[in-house]
Amino acid sequence: MLELKKLIEELPKAELHLHIEGSLEPELMFTLAKRNNLDLPYASVEEIREAYNFNQLQDFLDIYYAGMSVLITEQDFYDLTMEYLQKCHQQNVRHVEIFFDPQGHTERGVTFATAITGINRALDDGLANFGISYKTIMCFLRHLSEENAFQTLNEAKEFIALIDGVGLDSSEVGNPPSKFQRVFAEAKSLGLKLVAHAGEEGPPSYVEEALALLKIDRLDHGNRAMESEALIKQLKKEHIALTVCPLSNLKLCVVDDLKDHPMREMLDQGLLATVNSDDPSYFGGYLNENFFALQESLDLSKEHIVTLIKNSFIGSFLSLDEKTNYLLEIDRHLAQQQSS
Ligand code: HPA
Ligand code: ZN
Repeated sequence: MLELKKLIEELPKAELHLHIEGSLEPELMFTLAKRNNLDLPYASVEEIREAYNFNQLQDFLDIYYAGMSVLITEQDFYDLTMEYLQKCHQQNVRHVEIFFDPQGHTERGVTFATAITGINRALDDGLANFGISYKTIMCFLRHLSEENAFQTLNEAKEFIALIDGVGLDSSEVGNPPSKFQRVFAEAKSLGLKLVAHAGEEGPPSYVEEALALLKIDRLDHGNRAMESEALIKQLKKEHIALTVCPLSNLKLCVVDDLKDHPMREMLDQGLLATVNSDDPSYFGGYLNENFFALQESLDLSKEHIVTLIKNSFIGSFLSLDEKTNYLLEIDRHLAQQQSS
């Protein structure tokens, strides 16, 4: 166990499912509220943490959108992103593909430009100072209209060089992927990668829609795909990576206990599953903590851990050369460990 913990800490890793607004720690929330002369409905950092008790996705989303309202200036977005990258650096996360929710900001009068330039400036500094490579994925809030998503995609065009893909998040049930079929088609025509949250709370048919109608390159969560033999087969055949989020699943009651988590089954079935933190500030752990908790609950082996970590690069949007370099580095590390 200790040896596996060390392995998780030491190997280079990629994180593919991370909402940057979900990495806002209560301490920074207070700092930014003060800086922007805003009142928070909490008296202390402890009180904020106590509010993080969720029975379902929507309970979390209500608090998540309220929390991000302290993000006002370009510097706020920079500070938010830089804090996350510092955590990544500490945990040996070497590549990140982060989500941001532009509509969570434009809806309250903060411009698209403010959010994306602050996030991107921090990502550039993270690359220069820590060597962390990155991709940026802009998510559409699925509880908002198709028209609103199109407007957001139009705003994004000015910054297209800073954006690698689009995603779909927020309240899943009642907002099926089909609602955004035309938006995703346009995003694809702009050369963007496509991902979508599906099968977190929503039924397997939402995963089917995400594949067939949105034509996603990668699936976020996908837990409920495990209810369908046909879907498992398709995900395998099309080499669709799943960005799974163990501590998020536990906190949002997608699983009652991590011992019941489908990750072992996903690996046994040969799916390209990865481990991610989703909204680490709200769910109680960054990437390594997600690995530790999952390893312990499912009694994962060294082979499982190495597969999951390699999958994080294989399932990324890096070039083949870049992926190969990271995979070789992992193999070198393992070989060195064996000979010492
Ligand atoms: N699911 C849906 N929407 C989200 C999530 C999530 O886990 N995190 C942030 N927005
Ligand atoms: Zn998510």
